[in-house]
Amino acid sequence: MLEPQTLMAKAKEARLHAYAPYSKFKVGAALEGKSGQIYTGCNIENQAYGSTMCAERVSLFKGISEGEKEFVQLAIVADVPDYCYPCGNCRQVLMEFSPQLKVIMGNLEGKLIVRTIAELLPLAFDWKGDL
Ligand code: THU
Repeated sequence: MLEPQTLMAKAKEARLHAYAPYSKFKVGAALEGKSGQIYTGCNIENQAYGSTMCAERVSLFKGISEGEKEFVQLAIVADVPDYCYPCGNCRQVLMEFSPQLKVIMGNLEGKLIVRTIAELLPLAFDWKGDL
């Protein structure tokens, strides 16, 4: 498993590719699969605002679409005073694939906080059970 700062550096790099002309809020993500492969993501906005996709889900969908089934840790970064937290939609989608996921949240100055996805999404909706 990569050091948190190493994964965060990859998220920062991915953030440079963010397409955010509407909000001007650029987000970067880097997700480490169980295989050790890293999947990066950035937010991609659209003039039809609802079609925007968050950085976290871009990284997750890249991994899933390449055959990765589970993920161990995710780094998220944006230009914020403290930490960039994932939105509720991303928390739910991440939980589906990796209920043990470690989430590293930070800012451009190197501030960093670590929580599990279960801490970020307590009492998560879980209808699929043991499927
Ligand atoms: N955004 C993310 O990429 N991740 C989050 O967890 C929260 C929000 C993006 C979506 C949009 O492009 C911009 O940040 C402002 O909401």
